[in-house]
Amino acid sequence: MTQSARVFLLPSLAEDDAFQGRTVVVVDILRATTTIVHALAAGATAVVPMLDVEAAREKAHRLESRGVLGGERGGKKIEGFDLGNSPAEYTLAAVQGKTVVFTTTNGTKAMQLCRSANRVLIGAFSCFSAICRELGEQDQVDILCAGTDGQITREDVLFAGAVIDDLTRSFGETLQLNDQAEIAADAWRNAKRDFAALKPLAECLRASQGGRNLLEIGHERDIEIAAQIDKFNFVAELDLAAWWIVRK
Ligand code: MLT
Repeated sequence: MTQSARVFLLPSLAEDDAFQGRTVVVVDILRATTTIVHALAAGATAVVPMLDVEAAREKAHRLESRGVLGGERGGKKIEGFDLGNSPAEYTLAAVQGKTVVFTTTNGTKAMQLCRSANRVLIGAFSCFSAICRELGEQDQVDILCAGTDGQITREDVLFAGAVIDDLTRSFGETLQLNDQAEIAADAWRNAKRDFAALKPLAECLRASQGGRNLLEIGHERDIEIAAQIDKFNFVAELDLAAWWIVRK
């Protein structure tokens, strides 16, 4: 049963040891964490989140034909990489049975801050209910929004707010929240009123900073994919000892 849930709207808002002993959900809806979930859904055995491009190249090189190199800088596929950061690229043909070595600007960086956590889950709307079910069994829950280049992004805040809204409905008054969790939940509840007026989640994501960046570089389809709720029924978890993300 969840007793405390906190949101960090940006990595820089979390102190060094903030996540010690807690269950953290890392979220970069557009697109790193959405793409990781799609890679695992397409049969990748694991996704290894890497901080920098050269280290990712070396790691993939060591894996030989078992490795696939994926990720972005400036939203675009990195030179020499097999795949970029579009969830649709992570198909069965591209990743089934492979280990994806993955580096992105903000998402995989945020994961590095969670090394002292008890558990680290990967947040995406595509496995929203599975994540909420898993969190309902954890005492101390944190949601870490990756943001974009040090700026808060609405798509991450909406996801965090949706999770807080769900936990609040399950645990009510007994659940302790920080102010950032309250802010995120307010943002989600506001947006939900728009959904009732037939403005779908994809439209909210399109209007966010992350959404506008993707539109600029021609990745509109990724926004639609990121807005699909509960496409999958599994939780992706970063194994902290092995340092890879697998389906739980
Ligand atoms: C990131 O990790 O910075 C993002 O996923 C960027 C992107 O959407 O390509």
